[in-house]
Amino acid sequence: MKLHPVEVISRERYGDHVRIQYLWTGDPPQPGQFVMVRAAGHGLDPFLSRPLFAHDYEEGDVASLLVVVRGRGTALLAEEGSALLVSDPLGRGFQVTEDGPVALVGGGVWVSPLKLLARSLRRRGIEHDVYLESPAAASGAYLGFLKENFPGATLIETAGGTGSAVFLDWVGDLARYESIYVSGTAETLAAARSAAAGVVPAQLAVRERMACANGSCYGCAVPVWAGGEMVYARACVDGPVFEAAALAW
Ligand SMILES: Cc1cc2nc3c(=O)[nH]c(=O)nc-3n(C[C@H](O)[C@H](O)[C@H](O)COP(=O)(O)OP(=O)(O)OC[C@H]3O[C@@H](n4cnc5c(N)ncnc54)[C@H](O)[C@@H]3O)c2cc1C
Ligand code: FES
Repeated sequence: MKLHPVEVISRERYGDHVRIQYLWTGDPPQPGQFVMVRAAGHGLDPFLSRPLFAHDYEEGDVASLLVVVRGRGTALLAEEGSALLVSDPLGRGFQVTEDGPVALVGGGVWVSPLKLLARSLRRRGIEHDVYLESPAAASGAYLGFLKENFPGATLIETAGGTGSAVFLDWVGDLARYESIYVSGTAETLAAARSAAAGVVPAQLAVRERMACANGSCYGCAVPVWAGGEMVYARACVDGPVFEAAALAW
């Protein structure tokens, strides 16, 4: 996979989250696609590039990422002045419906791809509601970021722990939506899948850890149903967005 040097335009900090904007003149990312990124000038430290969802893409070729610093890889990406190498947009993102209303549900840093998705829905005139988990421990700066970037979103304060009943408390009657799109913690994805089953089509953005990101290592294998049998799909090329009903969790 080829990584391209990009011009970083800005790094803005919101508590432990960092939004990185850079110039991107290649294929525009589709909502739910991801890129592989690494800091330039550090050789193979860390060994693997890191996957990050395409957070936004604006007129004028400005792409952005939303990063939570977790370890060495993300710390180098977030470092002020650090040059970046970024891949083309990868994977299969959300299949955007032409019918509304739809619901977007996100939590933690996994809200990232919902910004580009909301932009795409707005452009198509598709009515959508946004529900975002705001952990009780989240900083004021990050809450301000969520309010500014997802105007009109319902922010749900949580203390961790999500079951399908809690998910329904957040979103209400799912049957009033044509489709739901979810990018959250593993617990939120599982709760969404169970709450949506037989009620509304749901698409989930999974977050399997990745190595090659080109389909060759099977490090990101996800169990899915195909013709009544459980097989393994690869999140990097077959996902990272999957129909909830297809996931064999
Ligand atoms: C498709 C995809 C999209 C992603 N998009 C984003 C994004 O938009 N913004 C963002 O901040 N992060 C995102 N991530 C997660 C991000 O890739 C990891 O946080 C990053 O690789 C950690 O690298 P590190 O060197 O900083 O930390 P490491 O030292 O590698 O790990 C630090 C900690 O993070 C945990 N961790 C690492 N990767 C994951 C993962 N995929 N899921 C759960 N826990 C993990 C590790 O178990 C460890 O506890 C995404 C991951 C995937 C697979
Ligand atoms: S990361 Fe290697 S197959 Fe997906």
